[in-house]
Amino acid sequence: MTPNPEISGHSARLEHSPHPEVAEPPGNSPRSGIPEPSGRSPRPEPAGPSGNPDHPGRFADSASSPGPGSSADSGLFEVPIRRTCPFDPPPGLAGLRAAEPVTRRVMPLDGTELWLVTSHDLVRRMLADPRWSSSVDGGLSPEQPLHMAEPEPGMFISMDAPEHARYRRMLTAHFTVQRMNRLRPRIEQIVAERLDAMERLPRPVDLVAEFALPIPSLVICELLGMPYEDRAEFQEAARTVVDMTTPPEQADAALARLGAHLAKLIAAKREEPDDALIGELIREGVLTDGELVHISILLLLAGHETTANMLGLGTLLLLHHPDQLALVREGAPGAADELLRYLSIVDLVIFRGAKEDLTLGGQEIEAGQFGLASLAAANRDPALCEDPDRLDVTRPKTAHVALGFGPHQCLGQNLARLELEIAFQALLRRFPGLRAAVPLEEVRVRENAAIHGLHSLPVTW
Ligand code: HEM
Repeated sequence: MTPNPEISGHSARLEHSPHPEVAEPPGNSPRSGIPEPSGRSPRPEPAGPSGNPDHPGRFADSASSPGPGSSADSGLFEVPIRRTCPFDPPPGLAGLRAAEPVTRRVMPLDGTELWLVTSHDLVRRMLADPRWSSSVDGGLSPEQPLHMAEPEPGMFISMDAPEHARYRRMLTAHFTVQRMNRLRPRIEQIVAERLDAMERLPRPVDLVAEFALPIPSLVICELLGMPYEDRAEFQEAARTVVDMTTPPEQADAALARLGAHLAKLIAAKREEPDDALIGELIREGVLTDGELVHISILLLLAGHETTANMLGLGTLLLLHHPDQLALVREGAPGAADELLRYLSIVDLVIFRGAKEDLTLGGQEIEAGQFGLASLAAANRDPALCEDPDRLDVTRPKTAHVALGFGPHQCLGQNLARLELEIAFQALLRRFPGLRAAVPLEEVRVRENAAIHGLHSLPVTW
């Protein structure tokens, strides 16, 4: 079998961001490429304060960035995408959830018209309903979609049943709690090494660059069975691919390097399969090399930025809530899920396309129309839990949707929980005096990103 599956420019662009940026105002992002709207009548959502007395401050990018851009001439209000506080959903979503939880809106900047879904119950109904398709790049801006209409073999995040179910059946057994627990000692070691490295650096140290970003990709190397001597090269390519500020042609080149690297790894594992993920999948004998390459890339992209941003933004949130920080340090068992629920770092990128006419929340939706689930709005729905705007790492388990819901619910969720649990505890135990080295207002927040998080977090201890 040829170990050289082609990584096309088309797939590269889409694969580059399975959780891509929400439209960044033109000029802010070298990747946006979204045309300036012209002569249209914008109707930005009337935005109020975040309404959470816990988080009074404005944050660096939030304070300086422009207001919602203009969009389509549809006369529709825009989807509120701008967080005024990095910990809370964009103002406006709570009002929509209460008044009209399925509502016709337009995406700022690229003008895509869609049905925005904001209540916990209806988000879950939509994500579990097979009449909503995940392969929907058709009408969305090519820079934006979470999904693609014609995914590469193995890119199952963009597929519907039965193809999607075929991949999930093959992979689910490799991501159980028990299987992920086998990785525990290695994750603990990776985290401890990063903490050692942080300790050797002059303070302040950027927690994002030194801790949050490297851990997820090192863990993926471990999961896939990447040999130690290849990791630096793999890491470099992976870092370039997942860095949203990388110009597209460089991202494509890095993706091609990553694909070639993985193809080489797969060829070696075919000779000598080990008991890491790729070796095991090869032994099962069903997947082609091309499928294995794209599955590996999907795991890397879906698992990297998400976990990294949870670690960065989660640390900042805990520094803001010392009582909760103490509980996390002591090992509160539900902490990872509460942080996931509270921050909902993946939001407003869960697009679906209606395959047929249907009704949701009393709205008549036509075949071909788009739907967008706000996981953040659903996770702060008072119907989900008591006092949803309060962070409480001791609260009873909730049915939050921060990891999605239905057939596409996060494949890596057990790994994500394990990484977060190990990393937060180890960080807070190693540095009991951990604190931000800059005032909170100066912390640089990733503005308008599909995955919410921080550019950097200077810390000292
Ligand atoms: C902390 C972190 C994470 C968050 C918040 C998160 C969130 C999500 C969400 C919301 C989805 C649903 C997408 C959809 O419905 O279209 C998803 C899917 C997925 N995630 Fe995660 N994720 C995290 C970590 C990970 C990790 C560590 C991995 C793997 C190593 C991973 C692999 C995947 C994959 C493969 C899918 C696609 C599943 C499918 O289509 O069947 N994620 N994730």
